Amino acid sequence: MIKRKSSREIDKMREAGRIAAEARNLARDLVQVGATTKSIDKAIKNYILSQDAKPAFLGYKDYPASSCISINDEVIHGIPAARRLISGDIVSIDIGVKKRGYIGDCAATFVAGEPSEDAKRLIEVTRECFYEALKKAKPGNRVSDISRAVQQHAEKNGYSVVRDYTGHGVGSEMHEPPEVPNFVEIPRKKADPRLMSGMTLAIEPMINEGVAGIYVKDDNWTVVTKDGKNSAHYENTILITEEEPEILTACEDMP
Ligand code: MF3
Ligand code: CO
Repeated sequence: MIKRKSSREIDKMREAGRIAAEARNLARDLVQVGATTKSIDKAIKNYILSQDAKPAFLGYKDYPASSCISINDEVIHGIPAARRLISGDIVSIDIGVKKRGYIGDCAATFVAGEPSEDAKRLIEVTRECFYEALKKAKPGNRVSDISRAVQQHAEKNGYSVVRDYTGHGVGSEMHEPPEVPNFVEIPRKKADPRLMSGMTLAIEPMINEGVAGIYVKDDNWTVVTKDGKNSAHYENTILITEEEPEILTACEDMP
């Protein structure tokens, strides 16, 4: 069952979302050569706590940190660690915030030091995939319209979409129905729900420079590309409305 949120619930999600987006901006500024991913995670956690909110990832299925920080061939769910960033590292940061019982979930990819042209393009196309999908996020369309928009934009640019992980509904739980895949399955194997106002979704393209295939490392969290090529991630929590969709994980000067 897909929950449609009341305006009271949406107010709370907007607040959680704003805090998550602000934490993402703070993290962006800390992606610097020499910084450890642990120190970035710590700053994210402190910021969230300072807003009287909770890091939604911490303890989720025993996840040990407040953010996921995934470098280069790491797609998602990288665990913050003592590794120091070096120039050219592609750093995807995913943040979840719980405030007054509701969640905001967002991510973006940044580069430490000097970005390569390839890295800039991968990151920009991944971000564009989200905005192409957002155009389809309206009542009457289906989840697959979002999925198709991401896939077409990524593949048109020579990239592939990760198929083993998806976007998702989000609300009082971090993962609610429906799944929001970044690709369309033909023939369709699963239900393809119609979008309705009041639905809140995390749309999160995970885009690989090389093959779509991934595997999970021995730490049981870190998802890496099979071919070792780079990957980027961009995510916002959004609200479907009768008019334009609203980005709930929004703040000034967001990536
Ligand atoms: N943002 C991630 C998602 O949408 C959640 C990270 S999993 C966690 O699936 F364990 F780190 F919380
Ligand atoms: Co998510």
